[in-house]
Amino acid sequence: MKEISEAFVNYRQSQALKRPLITNYLLVLLLITLLIIFSATWFGFRLAKEITIPIERLAEGTKRIASGDLDFRLETESRDEIGALVEAFNRMTEQLSASHTALQKANLELEARRRYIEIVLENVSAGVISFDKEGRITTVNKAAEEMLEVRASEVVGRYYRNVLRPEYRKIAREMIREINTTRSKSLQKQMELNLNGKVITVRVSVNLMQDEKGEYMGMVAVFDDLTHLVKMERLAAWREVAKRIAHEIKNPLTPIQLSAQRIYKRYRDRIKGDTAVFQECTNTIIQQVNELKNLVNEFTQFARMPNINPTPNDLNEVISESLVLYKEAHKDISFRFTPEPSLPVFKFDREQIKRVMINLLDNAVAAVDGKGEVDVEVRYNPSLRMATIEVRDNGCGIPDEDKVRLFEPYFSTKKTGTGLGLAIVNTIIADHNGFIRVRDNEPKGTRFIIELPVRT
Ligand SMILES: Nc1ncnc2c1ncn2[C@@H]1O[C@H](COP(=O)(O)OP(=O)(O)OP(=O)(O)O)[C@@H](O)[C@H]1O
Ligand SMILES: [Mg+2]
Repeated sequence: MKEISEAFVNYRQSQALKRPLITNYLLVLLLITLLIIFSATWFGFRLAKEITIPIERLAEGTKRIASGDLDFRLETESRDEIGALVEAFNRMTEQLSASHTALQKANLELEARRRYIEIVLENVSAGVISFDKEGRITTVNKAAEEMLEVRASEVVGRYYRNVLRPEYRKIAREMIREINTTRSKSLQKQMELNLNGKVITVRVSVNLMQDEKGEYMGMVAVFDDLTHLVKMERLAAWREVAKRIAHEIKNPLTPIQLSAQRIYKRYRDRIKGDTAVFQECTNTIIQQVNELKNLVNEFTQFARMPNINPTPNDLNEVISESLVLYKEAHKDISFRFTPEPSLPVFKFDREQIKRVMINLLDNAVAAVDGKGEVDVEVRYNPSLRMATIEVRDNGCGIPDEDKVRLFEPYFSTKKTGTGLGLAIVNTIIADHNGFIRVRDNEPKGTRFIIELPVRT
């Protein structure tokens, strides 16, 4: 019983201790739980940091590489999967950078080669135009621009069919057909092109372009300007003809001269009355034939006009003498002459300046067609020491496109004209160190203005 009551007392006592004990245990438990939560969170954060920071850096690196910074590299010390990933990333960037440099180099080389070809093309004297397989113009070099009077900026990219005038479109079509039927790769043709009034002779070579596999890529047309060459050939041929004609003219001159002398000697005493006219006429024949002989001699020897022989002369008088013949021969044309009294006697070749006047007056007479006005005026500028001869007519006038070719040999709009008249005039004036210009006359007709330096 005693034992039971003791146990009961004990129990009562322990009952009093029960609450603080439970509180104690709960506190310990709470502490442990907090510790576990804290360390778990800390560990979680640390782990997360180790993974996310390198991944963030990777993302940043990708961005920088995408923006072109190929020198960017990532750093890492870890040997785990992330480290392997960063290493792979760096290797990839390195390869990318190397291939980018190689590509850049190749591009530069390609560009340099393209520029070189372009420069070569720009500097060849032949005109080069290329077309793609659809017939679109792809390049026009500088020589072609100048020769054919086109602007590359206006025609490149357009179809040749839309650029060419109908008559040349037909020629182009025929050439292409010929290439196709003969199955040749190139074709050459010489032709005359009329460019707004300017006629040029060109040799056109059309070549097919094929790649290594023989695939058709288009065409290239090369234009060689032969105008000068053709002109020189024609000039040489004319020179030969002129030489022969001159030679043939020379033969009867001596008999004419001798006959005139004979007539003079035989009949001078028998003629009663007007002996002065008889003497003057026979003298003129003999003198003029002499002049003609000299001219022809010089021409047959050198195929050119005689050298000038300047002597002191009165220009007013020489012009007046040239006009006399015209006044008598063309009664329906009014010839007016305005001399310049203040002009001093100066050195020039009398016969050649007469030849100039005769050529200009011949042209003026032809231009007024039998009826009209021809004015000749001499002026003098003492400060410049320059004499000016102006020949004006109120004839048909000269269109602008002809003006540029006027002084070229063999340019004539007349049926029987040689076209040498103004070429000779031009040479004679140049030999005298002078200039000749052509202008429109008001209200109609033409003015030729000659300037001669006055050298006494
Ligand atoms: N005064 C003028 N008025 C109108 N046209 C002119 C005049 N002078 C020259 N011409 C033009 O210039 C061209 C060349 O003249 P140029 O004197 O050189 O040769 P041409 O008169 O035709 O031949 P040639 O002189 O041998 O008879 C002429 O055909 C003509 O068309
Ligand atoms: Mg003439």
